[in-house]
Amino acid sequence: MRRERFIAGNWKMNKGASESLEFLRKLSVLLEQGEDIPDNVNMALFPQAVNIIPMADHIRSSGVNVLLGIQNIHCKPSGAFTGENSIPCAIEAGAKLALVGHSERRHIFREDDLLVSNKYLACLEQGIEPLLCVGETEEERNRGLTKDVIERQVSSVFSSDRVIMAEQERILIAYEPVWAIGTGMNATAGDARECCALIRDLLSGLGGPSLAARSLISYGGSVKSSNSEDYLEQEEIDGLLIGGASLDPDEFYRIICNAF
Ligand code: 13P
Repeated sequence: MRRERFIAGNWKMNKGASESLEFLRKLSVLLEQGEDIPDNVNMALFPQAVNIIPMADHIRSSGVNVLLGIQNIHCKPSGAFTGENSIPCAIEAGAKLALVGHSERRHIFREDDLLVSNKYLACLEQGIEPLLCVGETEEERNRGLTKDVIERQVSSVFSSDRVIMAEQERILIAYEPVWAIGTGMNATAGDARECCALIRDLLSGLGGPSLAARSLISYGGSVKSSNSEDYLEQEEIDGLLIGGASLDPDEFYRIICNAF
């Protein structure tokens, strides 16, 4: 049986509250007018943290079936950490998911493997579902280090015996090669499939084959509606994490429709 699908938009530092709500209104119309979306297609959006509350209100009242996630969290639930997002407050606002280890956090904000691993664990402990992002830089790719980087980034989170993998219903991971993000140079479907398969093998080794089989592994990096099918038809690729193209409701909707 086909695993579930996971189609998510990471809006990064884009869209204010009114634009975010306008997007949801347009998406609802498209979803109402189009074919029924099968239950196994999970749709998610990661807006700016300040927009989660109005978006969650809109989702509750309109019934549109979109999960909300937060783009960045702090490990501690509260305290003197000016400018950070607390997980319990994100949950109260309406977030169900949290991005952890996104390449922009790793490379622009210098988050290392230890911090990523601590953030992942904080998500599990405080009750929000983490979506771990991994991927190599262009330089690492040119040096033939893609697999080593993925292996290091995955195992630094999951080999910690503080993460009790077997208790997780599923694990969400996005393979997002850094050189493909926002560049228009998307990975080939074959390369993305190989990396997603490697991630599943790693999960199998770390948490057992059944956990690996029910985990959802997505690709991200310059995905648009015109290339989304190439990825989604690969057995090993369960979903997509979309940046720029997810800002447009028509484009996001077309990508959702390619998932079934
Ligand atoms: P783009 O789709 O704009 O390349 O961004 C991908 C990404 O970073 C999603 O998290």
